[in-house]
Amino acid sequence: MEHSKRLIQKIVEHIAQAGGRISFADYMQHCLYEPGLGYYAAGSVKLGQAGDFITAPEVSALFGQSLAQQAAALFKQGLQPHMLEFGAGSGKLCRDILHHFESRGIEWMSYQILEPSPDLQQRQQLFLKQQLSAEAMEKIQWLSTLPESFNGLVLGNEVLDAMPVNVVLKQDQWLELGVGFEQDRFQWVEWAQDSAAIRQIQAIDRIQQLGQNYCTEVNGNYAPWCKGLFARCDQAVVLMIDYGYEQSEYYHPTRNTGTLMCFYQHRSHPDPFIYPGLQDITAFVDFDAFAEAALAAGFSVTGLKTQAHFLMKNGVLDLIGQPDSDALTQMSLTQQVKTLTLPGEMGEKFKVIGLQKNLDLSVSGLQG
Ligand SMILES: C[S@@+](CC[C@H](N)C(=O)[O-])C[C@H]1O[C@@H](n2cnc3c(N)ncnc32)[C@H](O)[C@@H]1O
Repeated sequence: MEHSKRLIQKIVEHIAQAGGRISFADYMQHCLYEPGLGYYAAGSVKLGQAGDFITAPEVSALFGQSLAQQAAALFKQGLQPHMLEFGAGSGKLCRDILHHFESRGIEWMSYQILEPSPDLQQRQQLFLKQQLSAEAMEKIQWLSTLPESFNGLVLGNEVLDAMPVNVVLKQDQWLELGVGFEQDRFQWVEWAQDSAAIRQIQAIDRIQQLGQNYCTEVNGNYAPWCKGLFARCDQAVVLMIDYGYEQSEYYHPTRNTGTLMCFYQHRSHPDPFIYPGLQDITAFVDFDAFAEAALAAGFSVTGLKTQAHFLMKNGVLDLIGQPDSDALTQMSLTQQVKTLTLPGEMGEKFKVIGLQKNLDLSVSGLQG
């Protein structure tokens, strides 16, 4: 609570400096990434049973092993065996991929982790040092910004949903909502009547015919993110995995309160003003907007498939039946596959989008 109070104080200062209000994207940026205070920039365990939410690498090593099979298939077609993972969380995905490479004799040259949070970087280093050989550790490098140049496979699990979003509300016309601080608490306030976010939602509204009081989000980070990555890659395949929808579903007339969600100790609720810095704030990914941003940056879009489809195509079921595993292990692995692939669990809500630069490789997880 002391920690949260310090962050509140900091955000109140930002609001005062900005003349009394900031955009919601700025508020979310401070809540998650304010140096030393934001949710991802400091403090407690976030992922897994002891944290606030569980991601696919926390559910099962089979997730990373399936991605490693996809990587191996791409390396065989000539992709350089370098990896670049965005936002590596606890480090489990990296561990599972590299264990799989090692156990199957798959050659790899480097694994870079781009992690903006110094706190998470430190946790990942401690964890991976315990889990991997000294030889493997020598080939892992941590970065806080994009590398100068990259050839290989780029990965990110649940990174796009952690990017700050702008909040928009339809009244007689579209408004962008921001955040003010009044009567000792953060409050929604009107932020703009004309902004990039409003122009984005107006274009969507022309197709989706959204009703009065429709409140939702748009993400202005996809375009700079794709542009930045494109500029630093020579030849690359990019696989981003996240929960999200195509636009017709995201901006469905009945989804009139958007997809913004907060997580605190495995409970989810929609109020971003509770416990700043102690709770995660996320929004679903608009995969159409992301694909458009990728195309505008110069990438080709290879496909969008559900996580279930992607994992099945990469042999997740074969991975359960490894010859050295006993019946109990196999039962537990079967349960993990169910969590990763069933439609009511992570199977359909999560999707994988693939991009390529200067390549036209066949990505087995995105085919068929
Ligand atoms: C929800 S966590 C997911 C962690 C991990 N990938 C997993 O699946 O368990 C979001 C992660 O994305 C990172 N992140 C957010 N924005 C990022 C960006 N622009 N570049 C790289 N990482 C980012 C956060 O610091 C955090 O590690």
